[in-house]
Amino acid sequence: MYINENFIKLPQSYLFSTVAAKLKEYRAKHPDADLIRMDIGDVTLPIAPCVVEAMHRAVDDMASAETFHGYGPEQGYPFLREAIATTDYQNRGIDISADDIFISDGAKSDLGNLGNIYSKKSIIGVADPGYPVYVDSSVMDGRGGELLPDGRWSRILYMDCLPENGFKPAVPERGVDVLFLCSPCNPTGTVFTRDELTRWVEYARRNKTLIIYDSAYEAFVQDPEIPRSIYEIEGAKEVAIEVRSFSKTAGFTGLRCGYTVVPKELKGYDREGNEYPLHQLWNRRQSTKFNGASYIIQRGAEALYTPEGREAIKKNIDIYLSNARYIRQAMEKAGFEVFGGENSPYVWVKRRGEEDSWKLFEKILHEAEVSSTPGIGFGECGAGYIRLTGFNSPENTHKAMERVSKIKFDDASEATENFTAFNDVKNIKAIDVLDDLTEKLGL
Ligand code: MLT
Repeated sequence: MYINENFIKLPQSYLFSTVAAKLKEYRAKHPDADLIRMDIGDVTLPIAPCVVEAMHRAVDDMASAETFHGYGPEQGYPFLREAIATTDYQNRGIDISADDIFISDGAKSDLGNLGNIYSKKSIIGVADPGYPVYVDSSVMDGRGGELLPDGRWSRILYMDCLPENGFKPAVPERGVDVLFLCSPCNPTGTVFTRDELTRWVEYARRNKTLIIYDSAYEAFVQDPEIPRSIYEIEGAKEVAIEVRSFSKTAGFTGLRCGYTVVPKELKGYDREGNEYPLHQLWNRRQSTKFNGASYIIQRGAEALYTPEGREAIKKNIDIYLSNARYIRQAMEKAGFEVFGGENSPYVWVKRRGEEDSWKLFEKILHEAEVSSTPGIGFGECGAGYIRLTGFNSPENTHKAMERVSKIKFDDASEATENFTAFNDVKNIKAIDVLDDLTEKLGL
């Protein structure tokens, strides 16, 4: 048996596994550490009561022959597909139907698995920095080429995202076959405007490019002018697959459920130029390799579409966003350069003069017992940055920022004074929002 040698070309560990291993090592050396996690985007608030009740009822269904559910449809149960189509699309004026939707066990799996339906020779385009699954899974499938000394892959087109372009990729001059776009962006927290997204759709139509639109964080968009779905853009159904998740929206990181929209209008081509609906290919792939998400979890997800479910989602998002806002303001006052955190749970942070993400990660870990994700793990353009998340509790977020503000950097005294002044001003909006929410929710 010969192995898939693409695996040996890959760096040995996945970004978040490397971070987890470093934290484990830190804990082993410092057993009393009061570590505050702001690294992986894992949520901390519990599942909404209406979801828990729906899952309890679904467990009871399993206990009786009349209501027992065995294998479900590989595409997902109609009750959930209908609820998604109506609430997330049709009620917002977007023409997506239930049978365009495939229920999944989360966005990450589908983002990797979609590689089954396009050619191994496809040229991939990614924003740098970007969610590492896009590049790693492309490399596993043999689409990376060779790893170059600068840490990039020879066959992948990287679109640099830097402060100069507002961390937004420019439409490339050449065509690519498959383009991964993410808005709100993981890790930088930036969002595409309607005009920008329109330019991407036009590019894809011109070049027969497939856009894989990672929309896992759409629920964090607060600005009504910012599109939450790529299908808000005319013509997008002919070029884009949209991937979404209940993980960050509704606390499903441990339950595992998301969905992927593959509109029936979307086509791919064979070498002779004949068209094939990607919906059909994805359906074939899912029927063969996936037995559907769990019935119990899908019943839980369905409850998110009730009025109680909508309310619960909004409450969670408000808390995470106010944490992100707080981080943003606090880090800025503590002397960091800060981006994102407005329509996103992620805050993208840099210390002027520090170009080594892992060094910054280590310093903050050792001196403040706060974990972050090193920006370099998201791509070369992430060098020097770290990503912080708003997914911890308001108390921990507050505590983490206070500790970080006390770290001695070369320019530290000024930063600490700034933060202290900021912390003392009780009319700062982020703090008020946090206090208010904390009180309301009895946290
Ligand atoms: C992240 O922190 O970027 C995400 O939580 C990772 C994931 O969703 O797999």
